[in-house]
Amino acid sequence: MTVFRGKTTALDSLDLEICTGASTAIVGPNGAGKSTLLKLITRELYPFVDPASEFKIFGESRWNVWELRYRLGIVSLDLQNTFFPDTTGRKVVLSGFVTTLGHVVESELTESQMDRAEFLLGDLGIEHLQDKPVRKMSTGQQRRFLLARALVHDPEALVFDEPTAGLDLASKFHYLRTVKQLVQRGKTVVQVTHHIDEIPPEIERVILLDKGRILADGNKLEVLTEENLSQLFGVGVRVVIEDGFYRALPKQ
Ligand SMILES: Nc1ncnc2c1ncn2[C@@H]1O[C@H](COP(=O)(O)OP(=O)(O)OP(=O)(O)O)[C@@H](O)[C@H]1O
Ligand SMILES: [Mg+2]
Repeated sequence: MTVFRGKTTALDSLDLEICTGASTAIVGPNGAGKSTLLKLITRELYPFVDPASEFKIFGESRWNVWELRYRLGIVSLDLQNTFFPDTTGRKVVLSGFVTTLGHVVESELTESQMDRAEFLLGDLGIEHLQDKPVRKMSTGQQRRFLLARALVHDPEALVFDEPTAGLDLASKFHYLRTVKQLVQRGKTVVQVTHHIDEIPPEIERVILLDKGRILADGNKLEVLTEENLSQLFGVGVRVVIEDGFYRALPKQ
């Protein structure tokens, strides 16, 4: 599969399968094609049509975008930036039911939909912020509302593009706990990150992406090696593993 963005080959002859149940982290430097890959999964972008290539989501190659939204939750900076600044947190969450960006008429929603939103606001600890407009929230607060929005349909899979970027320690830990619970409940999480210390221990598969190509793909222990990471980022990297978390340090 090959994907062009403008004149750039963002993904180059990629051959990849992400199975339901196998949560995966995608790691790579700026411009490697990580977000492009996620946008293929969420159908925000389409691959270059090559008769020899095949692209399937949940085993199907043709998807109604609306139907896909029920089965896939998305959290990304792009999505965060598309909300109108005056939209309240509550509307951000409720808009998950209508797949518009904040334009939602509450009287048109069902009681169970309202209950579900209410539950998630409480569960993610953002109930007290629900009437705040997006522009008055911090990055981490906005991110939590997006996460609640992604969860309204209780989707099978969640796609996170740099979910921890700009989060403080408490918010980051909160995110890691959320992923842990999602994976324990049988959800598939696909997470893009630059920082290997933000890969939750529950995610076992890692794909290293470099200039639109796969540099390594497999079990975390085999993929996140000093050799692979040094090659990927072009600097000497030392890897430390603690409590299932991986840390990259400069090689002395
Ligand atoms: N809208 C666009 N139009 C043209 N080229 C684009 C567009 N978006 C991305 N690209 C190019 O596609 C390539 C892959 O970009 P992508 O956003 O997938 O990278 P990334 O791995 O997510 O990087 P980052 O870590 O900076 O988020 C880059 O070379 C980028 O310049
Ligand atoms: Mg990106």
